[in-house]
Amino acid sequence: MKIKNICCLGAGYVGGPTMSVIALKCPEIKVTVVDLNQVRIAAWNDEDLDNLPVYEPGLAEVIREARGRNLFFSTDVESAIDAADMIFIAVNTPTKTYGEGKGMAADLKFVELCARQIAQIAKNDKIIVEKSTLPVRTAETLQTILDRTGNGVKFEVLSNPEFLAEGTAINDLFNADRVLIGGNQTESGQRAIQSLVDIYAHWLSPKQILTTNVWSSELSKLTANAFLAQRISSINALSALCEATEADVDEVANAIGTDSRIGSKFLKASVGFGGSCFQKDILNLVYLCRYFNLPEVANYWEQVIILNDYQKYRFAKNIITTLFNTVSGKKIAFLGWAFKKDTNDTRESAAIYVAEHLIEDGADIHIYDPKVSESKIMADMRYLWELKGLTEQRITSKLKQIFVYQSPMEALDQAHAIAVLTEWDEFKSYDWEEIYQNMYQPAFVFDGRNILDDEKLKEIGFEIKGIGKVNSFQLEKTSIF
Ligand code: NAD
Ligand code: UDX
Repeated sequence: MKIKNICCLGAGYVGGPTMSVIALKCPEIKVTVVDLNQVRIAAWNDEDLDNLPVYEPGLAEVIREARGRNLFFSTDVESAIDAADMIFIAVNTPTKTYGEGKGMAADLKFVELCARQIAQIAKNDKIIVEKSTLPVRTAETLQTILDRTGNGVKFEVLSNPEFLAEGTAINDLFNADRVLIGGNQTESGQRAIQSLVDIYAHWLSPKQILTTNVWSSELSKLTANAFLAQRISSINALSALCEATEADVDEVANAIGTDSRIGSKFLKASVGFGGSCFQKDILNLVYLCRYFNLPEVANYWEQVIILNDYQKYRFAKNIITTLFNTVSGKKIAFLGWAFKKDTNDTRESAAIYVAEHLIEDGADIHIYDPKVSESKIMADMRYLWELKGLTEQRITSKLKQIFVYQSPMEALDQAHAIAVLTEWDEFKSYDWEEIYQNMYQPAFVFDGRNILDDEKLKEIGFEIKGIGKVNSFQLEKTSIF
């Protein structure tokens, strides 16, 4: 079946970029991306491409070419579902914050709502594509809802998980290592798979397009994220040992990564991984393993998260102990708030948790991030404290310890210490001499991303400490205790 009309439910970090690229590469297909969030859709339709809701290098150029031609953003969910031959579900699947599976299981209420809405509206056969990351065997549930609540039309459910990483989404979509399509092993299932293969074949070669059964596809997405995150937790675990033994974590990563069986990617020690996917997907995997009565397997993967929490805490604690065992009333400047460079996304960013620890110890946090707004930062902290059950009074009082700036120099002025939380390139080229002159002495820098030139900074007079680095403080470690 040749697809002429695609609808995507969910215009977020995945729905927006993936559908823009499909529209760009398949000009004969009409692609409509819909969302319940009117503000988000208005931003996708904004004349000024600086106002798109998602910041991704290269995205504005794709939108400029395809939007209004065969790419549309709308809040009219019903019409878009009705007109489509193929419907992608790219809605959010966050960790449940309530009830059964709270803090572990994926919250599938948005996905279920999509299925019910599609079933209600559809008047002709449709292919439904799981683009959201879902627990293995969700397709079975979707098929049941669609068949039981629909109007007798036929639905074929495919799994097509997304592997793009934020900050490199457009490049990842243009040059995907692979796309994965899982479908039923029936004749109609295979026809549906072929329809989706034909779309990706507009720009990817056949060997980049893998087809599997539905369950392998669903599980591969969770597995890929678990393996990637596991590498970061492994190197971060070793960063602590490096600090204790005067080994250098970058040297160790390089030495092991050149072994082609290990490989060099995803071995960058850091303050801890963030983002909307890794933690959520591993928690989901752990929950599934417990559900299938595999406690040893669950505990194995859970350790990746435990280590990541430890790494964020270790970073914050190091700042506190180094600053003579208290940061109370001190100005700690944060360079970066996003969970990685080249994105405006802050979900699960390590910065949030480091800030929380420091604020608990009485610090004032002064933040600069090139792409994250003050309202987003305040909302991130409010959300965390609300989840923890803090009273409104406590939240309001803690938010007063956070200051956000449009310029880095203002954020850094008169700071007691600087913490690098995101690896934005611009941080490397700042005038560090000037920054040093305007700081309290001793001038501490905690480089949570190992991006700064520590030799140069030491020469200027900074006391700089990276992750998993030989303790480079020139000052003898002192404490009033
Ligand atoms: P997001 O929160 O940025 O976007 C989801 C959007 O869906 C929101 O704008 C929300 O308003 C909308 N939505 C919710 N219910 C809806 C409904 N019934 N109808 C229409 N719109 C609805 O989330 P995201 O980061 O784009 O992630 C989406 C999915 O993709 C998740 O399952 C995630 O795990 C997966 N994923 C994300 C990434 C990533 O890098 N962000 C990468 C791969 C996979
Ligand atoms: C991840 C997966 O990479 C992607 O394939 C999937 O589709 C969605 O989840 P994303 O979360 O966007 O992508 O970014 P990623 O590049 O994986 O980084 C995640 C976190 O790990 C970031 O906080 C990053 O800074 C951190 N990281 C990454 C490290 O600390 N060290 C590394 O070596 C790599």
